[in-house]
Amino acid sequence: MIKKNIPVITIDGPSGTGKGTISRLVAQELGFHFLDSGALYRLLGLAARHHSIPLDDEAALVTLAGHLDIQFTFDSEHQKTDIFLEGERVTDVVRSELSGKDASIVAILPAVRQALMNRQHAFLEPPGLVADGRDMGTVIFPGAELKIFLTASLNERARRRYKQLKGKGNDVTLEDLQVVLSARDARDKQREVAPLLPADDAVQIDTTELDIDAVFIRVMSLWNNCSMKFKESRVV
Ligand code: C5P
Repeated sequence: MIKKNIPVITIDGPSGTGKGTISRLVAQELGFHFLDSGALYRLLGLAARHHSIPLDDEAALVTLAGHLDIQFTFDSEHQKTDIFLEGERVTDVVRSELSGKDASIVAILPAVRQALMNRQHAFLEPPGLVADGRDMGTVIFPGAELKIFLTASLNERARRRYKQLKGKGNDVTLEDLQVVLSARDARDKQREVAPLLPADDAVQIDTTELDIDAVFIRVMSLWNNCSMKFKESRVV
């Protein structure tokens, strides 16, 4: 059951569109909670590897999802969120390309998506929530006050990811990243349940030519228009 009267902003789209960064900035600016739904799928994939569960064993993955021991803690010194799985810090490994690939494999399974639904709804607490993912506006929070769908060209998304990974000392090539990203896009768009697509009432923003500041300003201005309507609708 979704709690009423708590504002939600959903930010969906494929990897490399700046969705995670924008979602965090908007949540921080508004003092809202933040749901990184992709991290839940990544953590489930990682937990499956730890417990030697095949990534297509739907029943075992559902059980695992029900018992997933995870924790998100904000490290204020480095201004980033640390992620723990079964007590072990997995902040970096969970962001790897392999974890992203595993996540998109377990995310195909309908019962797995259903099993993670309550966990996602539990992030909805006052004063509000910014939810980042693929199906936030279409499936998880269909009544969200503001829905954003970010896009960017494949080249630009691969270039951004390349810069990020190289910065962390990873040995990757731009060409490999394009292949990896487009394979993940295809899995996300073609799955039968909750495929990656914009909600009918989502505002689409192409970030190919925009920097983070420009996207942030655009989202905040959309929210400022929409929050006025939200406040008015609560006055009886
Ligand atoms: O956003 P992130 O790159 O962390 O997501 C990893 C994968 O998790 C996605 O490629 C997608 O397959 C899956 N995912 C999903 N639904 C969400 C968030 C992520 O299916 N709401």
